[in-house]
Amino acid sequence: VIDADAAPCSVGVVVVAAGSGTRLGAGLPKAFVPLRGRPLLGHAVDTVARLPQLGSLVVVAPPEVADPAGASWAGVDLPPDAVVVAGGASRTASVAAGLAAVGDVDVVLVHDAARCLTPLAVFERVVDAVRGGAAGAVPGIPLVDTVKTVDADGVITGTPDRASLRAVQTPQGFAREVLVAAYRSGLAATDDAALVELGGHHVVVVEGDALAFKVTTRDDLEHAERVLAQRAGAAAERLPD
Ligand code: C5P
Repeated sequence: VIDADAAPCSVGVVVVAAGSGTRLGAGLPKAFVPLRGRPLLGHAVDTVARLPQLGSLVVVAPPEVADPAGASWAGVDLPPDAVVVAGGASRTASVAAGLAAVGDVDVVLVHDAARCLTPLAVFERVVDAVRGGAAGAVPGIPLVDTVKTVDADGVITGTPDRASLRAVQTPQGFAREVLVAAYRSGLAATDDAALVELGGHHVVVVEGDALAFKVTTRDDLEHAERVLAQRAGAAAERLPD
């Protein structure tokens, strides 16, 4: 959809951060839960801000904390031209709100704030695949568990070949006009690619990363804390005496 030779390519990133995070039980929206003293969202934004082709950044926040001057935003270093909009009751509604504010860019990436440790290389692989002509690209990793389909009574109805399955992550990237058209369909889905696939478009999987895991439970938050603590430890060891 995008002519890879037609440089430059501008990328708009929609970071969805409007979920309630009830499964974390922290009493505040998940994206604003502290991870080593800063909101999850702050860690996610740090990586997005390093994306070389970044043309616009939209953060979709819970309506009750949609003012970036508010106290919850301490530790979120927004680039000066970033835009904050209020999200909706579902992830789909939140993405739609972000998409409406992303502006005139070639490629849109939709990223979960909750996947706050996703490495920059994953963003770059997604952008490269869309620039290379795919309508959409999503990071994915092979499954370690065998997956079953079941009916309402829990009876197994099938065992898909594990080699053909991928667990997909974010950022998910698309040619902007393709994603806008997919959202116009008014359908809902658990990921953005599903809406684009329904439109008959070619969406590819690029290599994901274990660090793109979604913080959902307290265990996930503790895992993220350990990753950052290890990094800080390794960085301290590298410092000269
Ligand atoms: O709930 P879940 O963890 O699947 O949400 C994935 C991402 O979508 C999170 O970053 C969350 O903040 C965001 N979200 C949103 N608006 C909602 C629900 C979820 O922005 N209504």
